[in-house]
Amino acid sequence: MRIFEPTMIQQIDIFIHTLLLSAQSQNPVNMTEKLKRLGIDTVSLLAFGYPLNTQVDPKYQFLIDAHTFGNYRVNLFMQFPLLKKIRIYNFLEVFFAKEVRRYFTTIENMIASRVAEDKHVRHDLYSIVADEMNSDGEQYLKDSKIWAEAGFFFPAGGETSSTLLAAAFFYLSRNLSAYDSLAREIRSSFQAGNEIKAGPILASCKYLRACLDETMRMSPPAPGTLWRELSPKDTSTEPWIVDGHIIPPGVQVGVNTYATHHNEEIFPDSFEFKPECWNNSNLSQDQKALMNAAFQPFSIGTRSCAGKAMAYLQSSIALAKTIWYFDFQAASGNLGKLGGGSPSLGKGREREGEYQLYEILSSTHDGPNLVFQSRVDVIGEISN
Ligand code: HEM
Repeated sequence: MRIFEPTMIQQIDIFIHTLLLSAQSQNPVNMTEKLKRLGIDTVSLLAFGYPLNTQVDPKYQFLIDAHTFGNYRVNLFMQFPLLKKIRIYNFLEVFFAKEVRRYFTTIENMIASRVAEDKHVRHDLYSIVADEMNSDGEQYLKDSKIWAEAGFFFPAGGETSSTLLAAAFFYLSRNLSAYDSLAREIRSSFQAGNEIKAGPILASCKYLRACLDETMRMSPPAPGTLWRELSPKDTSTEPWIVDGHIIPPGVQVGVNTYATHHNEEIFPDSFEFKPECWNNSNLSQDQKALMNAAFQPFSIGTRSCAGKAMAYLQSSIALAKTIWYFDFQAASGNLGKLGGGSPSLGKGREREGEYQLYEILSSTHDGPNLVFQSRVDVIGEISN
């Protein structure tokens, strides 16, 4: 994290500058768009040292929709494996041939330009894994591990963190007492915006962490069921037992994250945003242990998220810096409702105060639309 942090902060500072421009013009900001750009720019730099600059330049912004489309595709195949077997996607790709080619060419360029440099020219993810990846003499880039990792890394690292932050901005703009508590904590803990970085002060911001956790409890960025099945290579003679049931080979089991996070026995009033519950000293040890065990936005066990520390650090700094430099609220009228539920969206999506996620392995979402005001006493730190 020490190696990655300067890049994260550099990109967050660009994000803050784009918010400053919006504050000056008083135009509402669609946070999903802004945060997806922040996410993809950060990941491309950390993975391959490649500056996509989507926050300030439209050239590569198409990659964001391309990844969403790719996730839709993968998710469809996961839910309906038959679709992959009958290779219907080859047929679909004919319609999107130009976009698909543009996407592949960009990723190829990105990887090729990094591979052409010395492995250790900079501390990006490639420099850490390069020796492993080039060891098995892959001839074609698209068959290589680095290609597969790139395809995985953008959605895994860029989209999930954007979802967390978009949802956090949604909940804070609707829950004023949480907004006030967070603003008080951040504005009294730091002396200047450039102090907001990893360290004991950020770690002491317990309400900030509680806001992020409560956001992921209500709207987990990977909201679905992470299916597991016995490996075909498993040679054990012992049966695989889950919760007292023998699970035969070929049968998948999983626990849905969104459902677990809304189990009323563990999280009462589970559709209300209450960051306080994570720091509540009145809860019994048993209740706290139950909540912590049930809270699993990053999954648990050996295949749990490899980027958890990065996600917390990036989101904490981005949220804290925004609250340091600005005040914000939902845009007025219908524009301000974007992202929330509505009876017209159908059963289960009727709650106005719940940020709406659409599962595609990770999630798609839209909004919230927010209006920002610079805080006059601190904005001079960045606007001069
Ligand atoms: C709020 C942000 C994030 C959330 C909620 C999240 C969630 C998850 C979840 C649930 C899994 C398990 C998937 C499965 O078992 O099928 C996972 C795996 C993974 N995540 Fe994240 N993630 C986040 C951010 C990141 C970031 C920032 C990175 C890296 C830049 C990252 C890299 C990975 C990797 C490499 C794996 C695969 C681990 C393995 O299979 O061994 N994630 N993530």
